[in-house]
Amino acid sequence: MSFSVAQVRKDFPIFERTIRDGKRLVYLDSGATAQKPWAVINAESDFYSKHNAAVHRGAHQLAEEATDAYEGAREIVAQFIGAQESEVIFTKSATESINLVAYAMGNAEAGNRFALSPSDSIVVTEMEHHANLIPWQQLAKRTGAQLKWFKVGQDSRLDLSNIDEIITSQTKVVAVTHQSNVLGTINPLEAIVKRAHEVGAVVVLDACQSVPHMSVDVVALGVDFLAFSGHKAVGPTGVGVLWGKAELLDELPPFLTGGSMIENVTMTTATWAPVPQKFEAGVPNMAQAVGLGAACKYLSELGMDAVRAHEIELTGYALEKISAIEGIRIVGPLENVSRGATVSFTLADIHPHDIGQYVDSQGVAVRTGHHCAWPLARAMNVPATTRASFYLYNDEQDVDALVAALLGAQKYFGRF
Ligand code: ALA
Repeated sequence: MSFSVAQVRKDFPIFERTIRDGKRLVYLDSGATAQKPWAVINAESDFYSKHNAAVHRGAHQLAEEATDAYEGAREIVAQFIGAQESEVIFTKSATESINLVAYAMGNAEAGNRFALSPSDSIVVTEMEHHANLIPWQQLAKRTGAQLKWFKVGQDSRLDLSNIDEIITSQTKVVAVTHQSNVLGTINPLEAIVKRAHEVGAVVVLDACQSVPHMSVDVVALGVDFLAFSGHKAVGPTGVGVLWGKAELLDELPPFLTGGSMIENVTMTTATWAPVPQKFEAGVPNMAQAVGLGAACKYLSELGMDAVRAHEIELTGYALEKISAIEGIRIVGPLENVSRGATVSFTLADIHPHDIGQYVDSQGVAVRTGHHCAWPLARAMNVPATTRASFYLYNDEQDVDALVAALLGAQKYFGRF
C-alpha cells in the first residue's frame, strides 16, 4: 500500500498558503507539531457546532451525542494502538500522561506495587526529551529513589552493554523513548522490556515520535504504559493519550481528583470510578479527543505501514543529500536503519539559530536548539542542532528545498 504525497497535501489546508513573500511552504517541523487535515479540523468544529455538551453527566440529547462522540474517539484510538478501550485515558498532552504516571506512583502508599522508597531506582535514558526525564527526576527527589540512566554512544544508539547493572532488582520503573525526537534513533525495546520484566519493573514508553509515524501495537511491544500526544499525530493540540495495562491502571492511585473520577463521596472520603474514568477528572477535552479520533482514522485509512515506508524512503534520500553538503555533521544514525524521519545536523560553525532563520527566509521551516533534550545535546557534544523532521506530506522536493537553502546559508554566512 502506498499513497500520493500530492494527494495527501490537498487534505491539509495549510499547504494552500505561501510564506515569506509568496514562497511555497516547506514544513519540516512535524517533530514539534504536525499540520492538520480537514478531517480533523472538521471533526473538532462539528463537535462544537452540532453536539457540544458535557459528556457523562447530562440527561439530554446533546449530552448523549457528545458522550457517544467522545467514547467513539476512545474506541478509534484504542484500535489504532491495539489496545482495549478501557485502557485508553485521554489527557491534555503526552507530558501530562507521563506526569500522571509519575505523580500517581508518588501517591502510592506502602504496600502498593508502585510505592517507591530510597532503596528503589528509576531508570531513564540520556536520550529522553524533557517530558520523559523531568517527571522521573522529580519523582526520584520526592521519594528518595535513585535515578539511573542508559548513556548514548557517539553512534547515536543507546549503550545497553551494562543493562544488568542499570536495571536491577531495585528498579521499579524504566522510562524510555521509542524514537528520539533529536537523533531519530528507534530504540531496541525488546531487550529493555525483557530485562525490566525479569526484575519486576514496569516500562513506560514515550511514543510521541513513533505512534504518528509507524504502526504501534501495545501488546506486541510488551510495554506497560505508553504515552503520545495528539498534535504530533495530525490531531488537535490539548489532547494526549496514556495507555496502560488494565491490571496496572487498576492498582495505580489517581493523579488528579475531582468530578467524574469518583464512585461515592462523603464529606471526608471518596472512592474511585473504574478506569479510565478514575484518571479523567473534570469535564474532559471532548472536542480535542473527537479530533484525535478523526486523526487516527485518517492515518489508519492511509495505512501506518505506508506512512513508515514513505518515511524510510524519504529519510534515505535526505541522509544522502544532506550529508553530501560540505561542513555538515549529522547528529543521529548515519545509516537508514532503526531510525525515523528526523534528521538533526550542524553546519560548520554557523549557529543553528542563524541557519533556522536563513532557511526560513527561503520558505523552509525547521526547528533549532536543544529540542527539549538538553542532556542529549551535551552527550553529543553540541550546544544545539538544526532539525528537519519529515512526515507524510513531505517529499523529495522538500528535501531539495532544504538542501538548496543550506547551500544558500553557507554562502550567506561566508563559509566555503
Ligand atoms: N518534543 C518536541 C520536539 O521535539 C518538543 O519538538
